[in-house]
Amino acid sequence: MAEVKQVKKAKTADKPAKAKAGKKGGDQSEPKNTIWSRRDFFSLAGWAGFAATTGLSSLYFLRLLYPRVLFEPSPIFKAGSPGDYTVGEVSTKWKQQERVWIVREPEGIYAILARCTHLGCTPLWLKGEGKFKCPCHGSGFTMDGINFEGPAPRPLERLKITLAPDGQIQIDKSKKFLFEKGEWGKPGSILRV
Ligand code: FES
Repeated sequence: MAEVKQVKKAKTADKPAKAKAGKKGGDQSEPKNTIWSRRDFFSLAGWAGFAATTGLSSLYFLRLLYPRVLFEPSPIFKAGSPGDYTVGEVSTKWKQQERVWIVREPEGIYAILARCTHLGCTPLWLKGEGKFKCPCHGSGFTMDGINFEGPAPRPLERLKITLAPDGQIQIDKSKKFLFEKGEWGKPGSILRV
């Protein structure tokens, strides 16, 4: 009898432990039919983050190798041969494309920048009146670029003009010659032909 009692006691003592174990185990186990486990997910996310960081670093490095450069058109252009220009005339051939007038006088050929020295508008060549006239505030310039009316404070600017090895006139808009600095007689300010 005493043995039977002991066996019963042992069985009743096992029950709560089994029940507890079953409950606890049920909470911790992962769903059996899930394709991605939580560990897989975090691993994948980690690799994705690493790949993104590496990619961005590489792009930044490449960006440093190729600095941002603004490519501007060359300030030098060829303007045909001296024979294309008539003595005593202002050529407006390059005004639209290069903003330059080419003037031929008995002493040589020079290039004038078509920009008003008041506020930068583009004057017009009035052949009938023999002058450049600015449409903005009325400044007037003689054929060789001297200001004589309106608010323009100084003459028009001349540009470097030379003869290229191929016999063509070459204008360099990056080099200017200013009357008020006594530069109009300097080499490059006029092409003597
Ligand atoms: Fe030419 Fe003012 S910009 S007169």
